[in-house]
Amino acid sequence: MMQTPGPTQHVLLEAKNLARHYPVSQGLFKPKAIARALDGVSFILTPGKTLAVVGESGCGKSTLARQITMIEPPSGGELWMEGKNIAEADKATRKQVRPLVQMVFQNPYASLNPRKKVGAMLEEPLIINTTLKQAEREAKARAMMDQVGLRPEHYSRYPHMFSGGQRQRVAIARALMLDPKVIVADEPVSALDVSIQAQVLNLLMDLQQASGVAYLFISHNLAVVEHIADEVLVMYLGKTVEHGSKEQVFHRPMHPYTRALLASTPRIDPAQRQQKMMLPGELPSPLAPPPGCAFNNRCPHAIERCRSEIPLLRSIDQRLIACHRVEEIN
Ligand SMILES: Nc1ncnc2c1ncn2[C@@H]1O[C@H](COP(=O)(O)OP(=O)(O)O)[C@@H](O)[C@H]1O
Ligand SMILES: [Mg+2]
Repeated sequence: MMQTPGPTQHVLLEAKNLARHYPVSQGLFKPKAIARALDGVSFILTPGKTLAVVGESGCGKSTLARQITMIEPPSGGELWMEGKNIAEADKATRKQVRPLVQMVFQNPYASLNPRKKVGAMLEEPLIINTTLKQAEREAKARAMMDQVGLRPEHYSRYPHMFSGGQRQRVAIARALMLDPKVIVADEPVSALDVSIQAQVLNLLMDLQQASGVAYLFISHNLAVVEHIADEVLVMYLGKTVEHGSKEQVFHRPMHPYTRALLASTPRIDPAQRQQKMMLPGELPSPLAPPPGCAFNNRCPHAIERCRSEIPLLRSIDQRLIACHRVEEIN
């Protein structure tokens, strides 16, 4: 089962009940409210595998990415890497572990320094984190460019001379320069033309095969992760509602939210196309989540219990689900 690794499976990173709450000002003289952007999410990442995290905009995906990449310290839970709980580690330990987790952002127009040439951009992490000499750094940068499908002459070009897809190749190359164990990709193809998306997804998969890197792949679009994911974790308002293998989640979604999300996702495979069912209503604010199950106000199956009691994440049919009624409705 996916939550417990097999005997030969090596755990690269483990998040346990990871949370990030933000104090939000309500105005002068009013007490601060708490936005529960990330509210207790757990998973493991293993070499060469991709965990996709999906959910609507505002459900906490980027907040999760900032915790895993150690950009921000979590406000609760544990984050294990290299045998250490990074959530509680000192600065020196965080600094030592940080290069092992690299990030690829959504917008390759904003994430690349417009004043730096591609070569310099790729060599920068080596200057900061290694003792390699200039010639060695250049050789490494050029080898990486080749791996991500950039041409040798791109070495001395500026990002503005590139298309969105090529820029994302540069961003992916830079993320790989320090041989990370984990790459967090936050909507890495959402800003790209649909025709380019598949190329970048295929590149990510090829690079994973070659390097054994683990991906935490974030997308609001389920269709994007169908190809690349091994496991899918569906988030709603900072919490996991369903977590299983890609096959389970796509072929037999069990949580009403996963089903609604899947039904409102245009599918590439015509056999998988269903009657379009839009998700009614909007994601509630993490400042004022509804009592009980956070999905209750949009759920066609909600009963009184769903409006008063928070459903726990439990193991059902080899996967994890947080829904009181999952047995009755499946
Ligand atoms: N620094 C912050 N302060 C207050 N609220 C925040 C902060 N960052 C994110 N949030 C809130 O947390 C929720 C989740 O945001 P985010 O992680 O960006 O979602 P997603 O990436 O899934 O769209 C949103 O309601 C957002 O407004
Ligand atoms: Mg986001």
